[in-house]
Amino acid sequence: MSRYIIEGGRPLEGCLRIKAAKNSVLPLLAASILTQEKVTLQNCPQISDIKNMLKILTGIGCVVERDDEGNITIDPKDLYCEQIPCVLAKELRSSVFLMGPMLSRMKKAKISYPGGCEIGMRPIDIHLSGLRELGIVIDEESGYLDCDAAGAHAAQILLDLPSVGATENLMMASVFNKGTTVLRNCAKEPEITDLQNFLNAMGARVSGAGSSMIVIEGVNKLHGVTYRPIPDRIIAGTYIIAAAMCGGNICLEGAIPEHISSLIAKLSKTACKISCKNDKISIRSKGRLKSLERIDTMYYPGFPTDLQTQMMALQTISRGTSVIAENIFETRFKTVPQLIKMGADITVRDRTAVVRGVPRLHGAQVSATDLRGGASLVLAGLAAEGVTEVKDIYHIDRGYEDMAPILSSLGAKISRTV
Ligand code: EPZ
Repeated sequence: MSRYIIEGGRPLEGCLRIKAAKNSVLPLLAASILTQEKVTLQNCPQISDIKNMLKILTGIGCVVERDDEGNITIDPKDLYCEQIPCVLAKELRSSVFLMGPMLSRMKKAKISYPGGCEIGMRPIDIHLSGLRELGIVIDEESGYLDCDAAGAHAAQILLDLPSVGATENLMMASVFNKGTTVLRNCAKEPEITDLQNFLNAMGARVSGAGSSMIVIEGVNKLHGVTYRPIPDRIIAGTYIIAAAMCGGNICLEGAIPEHISSLIAKLSKTACKISCKNDKISIRSKGRLKSLERIDTMYYPGFPTDLQTQMMALQTISRGTSVIAENIFETRFKTVPQLIKMGADITVRDRTAVVRGVPRLHGAQVSATDLRGGASLVLAGLAAEGVTEVKDIYHIDRGYEDMAPILSSLGAKISRTV
């Protein structure tokens, strides 16, 4: 199995371009089946979550092409199957938001119950209750969800909590329902606004994304489109934290500073210098940074849960003590034992971690347990003294393209064994 070998202690210098956001490309690929015409998404990264979503789309009858410039074209004309292949659905949790577009297009959908994953149970009760309020009949039996949308209609829906996936699913399930559907207590993440813009570019009538109330006016048909999704704010944030940990001076191009304003606000309190201009973010960092007293993960625009473990890695070598509360997912501290193996001083109780900064981590053999936790172990290895070996990096491949070549181009000493 592939692993990363990292020789730590080198500053990062240089520039990198940010590609399209995984958590935008995935719902947009699902939404592409809402039309019978071709859809092209630009600037997409080569990552396994996207590869798996393309396999699912191929498995239900779409023709998929991708070129070396990051363009993905979906031809959904011959969509023939309303059952999401079970094995792939299990592999890719985000297949759950194929339900909405599948029900809108085919009026039926059959999907295996997506399991939990490394960061928590990942229930879909809010998706299902919202779909039922849209008049969709859902039979849950023997691990499958058998859905019938023959009687689907517009509705007023209040989400129990601002779930990103449920907001996206219900937007896509409503685009053809006659009349006006109103979703309240919606997620406000930038990826929701990106989905609204994508659907409207296809001829839908969606408004309010980015606020807690989204209004969908039903239309009869959607047409094909060529669309450039927003850049990946979590990738941008990960490399910014890497530079904060290693010292040096890097710039990100093609990023949207506003999408990571909570991270920028936090890091500006630690004595690293961050400057933003249009789609460029630069960070200059030197020496040991001041600890952040408290970090609470929150729904957007609060501090993103997807940057929690990367920020924890930074706090392990900062000056002082930091309290990190993970308020979104129930088991997102699985990387803590691996960081402790590298010399970190962390104690966890329930959903709170207390991180006492040490002057330096030391290299060790560690294993990635999930996507973002794996990325945080790479960051820890970059800043540690000596050599770190990160195993099970297939987790990281789900969301990070070319991590070794990108970091090497910034001066890091990192290689990938086959
Ligand atoms: C999306 O997951 C992202 N994934 C996650 O990114 C991200 O961490 C999460 O949003 C929060 O921002 C994609 O977009 C593909 P949620 P999603 O529904 O939609 C609970 C990464 O690393 N909940 O907003 O699954 C849920 O358990 C991934 O890129 C219910 O209780 O997240 C969690 O506690 C990880 N019932 C909270 O809501 C439901 O029906 C937020 O989950 C749905 C969710």
